[in-house]
Amino acid sequence: MTVLRSVVLGCGSYLPAKVVTNADLARTIDTSDEWIVQRTGIHQRHIAANNELTSDLAIAAARAALANGHVDAQTIDLIVLATSTPDNTFPASAVTVQTGLGLTRGAAFDLQAVCSGFVYALATVDGLLRTGTYKRALVVGAETFSRILDWSDRTTCVLFGDGAGAIVLEAQQQPGNREDRGILTTHLRSDGRHKTKLYVDGGPSSTQTVGHLRMEGRAVFKHAVAMITDVIEDAFRATGYTAADIDWFVPHQANKRIIDDSAHKLGIATEKVVTTVGQHGNTSAASIPLALNVAVKDGRIKKGDLVLLEAMGGGFTWGATLLRW
Ligand code: UT7
Repeated sequence: MTVLRSVVLGCGSYLPAKVVTNADLARTIDTSDEWIVQRTGIHQRHIAANNELTSDLAIAAARAALANGHVDAQTIDLIVLATSTPDNTFPASAVTVQTGLGLTRGAAFDLQAVCSGFVYALATVDGLLRTGTYKRALVVGAETFSRILDWSDRTTCVLFGDGAGAIVLEAQQQPGNREDRGILTTHLRSDGRHKTKLYVDGGPSSTQTVGHLRMEGRAVFKHAVAMITDVIEDAFRATGYTAADIDWFVPHQANKRIIDDSAHKLGIATEKVVTTVGQHGNTSAASIPLALNVAVKDGRIKKGDLVLLEAMGGGFTWGATLLRW
């Protein structure tokens, strides 16, 4: 019996031209390249130009994904943009992406789950595509975290960067067996008891300001590996796959130590882990599609590969997706 699945048609990304190295940061705040690399694995990050908005990054990534999949933008009937740094409080930046792509039909909305945003968006889009209501979707993660950083706070400003990534998904009938392409399972979790460990200290209802990112880094770190590995075990249980079956592990890129510890705990070989945090920093909802794009472009991820995605971030929110590319 065939099964309707959300199959990847293409992926793309966009990084702002400006690169800020650790040495650049060490010129303005009390930090060092050695500390940042040792604690996080980050060497550099991209920062959006003053006139570049989250929607600009998202449109560029979406265009690249459409081109990569040889997909006509006019065939897209659903756009979900995962972001915590929208252009405006409303309307959703997704409608700006929709207009930027020349689309006037279908639906477009933003989704906010901080660093887990892309995994949450995949789960949402997968659910909508499998109802049969929508046929082709753009799932975009785009952020300009540079706009909500306190650039005098060395405990946070060295960690994040700007960027965008996108994939095109299409509802396709698959055979209903182990060869099925597309999203195989998605698992989402949240626990608001941790909301003050990673948050922005402003907002329309509370302060009428945008605010700045605040984080108890050590507390987030302490929870990260356990939460990530737990939700991935759920994905394994749901599908019958194990760590040995995974071709590529593409985790959220917050900290190389979290990525390495998670892979080690799960028993995923180092050479199967896609790590881009060194070049991009933590780009929140954009980090997974940015990393996917790197691994697709350099020939690692190929059609038919089993790919495991995970993310964990503010809320806390966390989640995992298993898909066959
Ligand atoms: O994507 C959302 C999820 N977010 C994360 O996953 C982030 C999770 N947390 C982390 O990645 C790490 O906790 C950090 C990278 C944020 C911090 O690493 P850490 O090993 O947990 O360091 P720490 O916070 O315990 O700080 C150690 C020391 C402190 O000094 P004292 O108190 O020991 O004297 C900090 O003040 O390092 C100091 N420090 C710095 N030194 C130089 C903090 N930031 C910096 C800095 N440069 N940028």
